[in-house]
Amino acid sequence: MSAQGSAGTAVDLRTDLGRGLVLRNPIVAASGCCGYGTELTPFYSPEVLGAIVGKTITRAPREGNPSPRMAETPAGMLNSIGLQNPGIERYLERLLPDMQALGEVPVVANVAGEDAADFAALTERVGEVPGVAAVELNISCPNVSHGLDFARVPERTTEVVRACRERTDKPLWAKLSPNVADLRPIAEAAQAGGADAITVSNTLLGMAVDWRARRPKLARGFGGLSGPAIRPVVLLHARRCVEAVDIPVLGCGGVRTAEDALEYLCVGCKAVQVGTAGFQDPLRLPTIVERLGRLLAELGCSRLADYVGSYRAP
Ligand code: FUM
Repeated sequence: MSAQGSAGTAVDLRTDLGRGLVLRNPIVAASGCCGYGTELTPFYSPEVLGAIVGKTITRAPREGNPSPRMAETPAGMLNSIGLQNPGIERYLERLLPDMQALGEVPVVANVAGEDAADFAALTERVGEVPGVAAVELNISCPNVSHGLDFARVPERTTEVVRACRERTDKPLWAKLSPNVADLRPIAEAAQAGGADAITVSNTLLGMAVDWRARRPKLARGFGGLSGPAIRPVVLLHARRCVEAVDIPVLGCGGVRTAEDALEYLCVGCKAVQVGTAGFQDPLRLPTIVERLGRLLAELGCSRLADYVGSYRAP
């Protein structure tokens, strides 16, 4: 796909995420923020996006954590949803077919298991569906008891990714956690396990307190922070991961505008996932796609690929 720049210049926004998956543009709807894609259709055609990642699927249905499980913060949002989802059987029966009916937009299935074997079984099931373009492994949910087990110890990251790699030939993305001092060993571990790409990152652990009630604002006490507040933190993780691994990095954290997306692309991310911003404005993602083309044309770039990684280090 190409986008028309302000000077009438066509910009080629395609981006290659490996294993044959080329997106028409780098803007991807992040997991958990657009349901299973059908929530977008009252507002715009999801075909304008690079791809859509569905909400995490687990083997059994999950109700999620008790409420309240969302709290606004000055520059972001805390959530402790707890992987609420209808489970793999209903997903395959009802939700995935609906996602595939969205049109010419790559559908990415996001899965979370209890252990490596469970991750692998889920990956195999969703990977067998012809319309699934890629599988994203959610090894970084902070809102379930063992959600970060595979995200903070490199050997465990490799273990789960490798188990999944053995069960699918589809593009495999590992979604990493920013809740480590240095994400590079985890990124390298995901690559060693056979990931085709990494998503950097999931949410940052945080809490908010109702000081009058002396109670946490989230029933579980803490949750995952997303939104603009985390962008500088995740951007640094993303930059370092780009330097550490050879596989594509998808930046994910606090993107509200095309300018924000360009920060991630500049430091070398090949795509950018947008989540929380879509809650504020459902048209945010198509707006970012459109403006991205215009900004790149203003920079004199005819291809996104020429801009990606053009960051000049100090
Ligand atoms: O709690 C949730 O459902 C969020 C998931 C995640 O951040 O991975």
